[in-house]
Amino acid sequence: MTRPTLLFIHGFPLDHTIWQPQVSAFAPAHPVVAPDLRGFGEDDRVVPDTMTMDMYATDLKELLDARGVDSVIPVGLSMGGYVAMAFAALWPERVHALVLVNTRAGADDADAVKARLEMARSAEERGMALIARGMVPRLLADRTLQEHPELGRELERTIARRSPAAVAAAARGMAQRPDRTPWLRTFPQPVLVITGDQDKIMPLATSQAMAEAAPHGRLVVLPDAGHLSNLEQPEAFNAELRALIAG
Ligand code: MLT
Repeated sequence: MTRPTLLFIHGFPLDHTIWQPQVSAFAPAHPVVAPDLRGFGEDDRVVPDTMTMDMYATDLKELLDARGVDSVIPVGLSMGGYVAMAFAALWPERVHALVLVNTRAGADDADAVKARLEMARSAEERGMALIARGMVPRLLADRTLQEHPELGRELERTIARRSPAAVAAAARGMAQRPDRTPWLRTFPQPVLVITGDQDKIMPLATSQAMAEAAPHGRLVVLPDAGHLSNLEQPEAFNAELRALIAG
């Protein structure tokens, strides 16, 4: 039997480079795909006004089909987690296990939807520099920011380079996403939920809720990690992923 491919799905508004510590640890011994979502990173496809999570998931399915990849373990961080759940809901037969990283299953409330639409407008009207500056301190734990200031600077440069149209389309798409909790309750495969104890964007309760909802859910809280736990604590993160693959 061929081993399921690790499908790494980045968060908003980042790109595949956030998975560098995982790609270098797992490939080439394990099959790995770490794409850019439409409009992000090196993907320069034109984006519509709104990119729903199902649309990103459909892009990923087409990519996997083109590469002849059947069974996958989606590893999705934050928005990547929303896309991973959309993929697993659409094509459950292709999902061997699911890894939900610093993310949530719930939908946005009215305030969150309003903030998304404001961000979309701000990106389109004022560009990405302001958004990049405001976002970086929330992505990383304070300790990471102090000990690895170069990481914060690199993330700010990455976000500032993003296409405003892609960012706006993703923000509008996230605002429309459904509550995946009822679906998660029915998902029969292992679900590994990983978060950081210093995540300023996703409260711990959102991860606890996902691990409890999934019939085969397990929660791992990494110490000294913020919203990008795979980058901030790569060794501990990779150890959990390795255990999931081995199990
Ligand atoms: C992300 O990191 O992808 C975002 O924080 C997700 C979100 O804004 O809900």
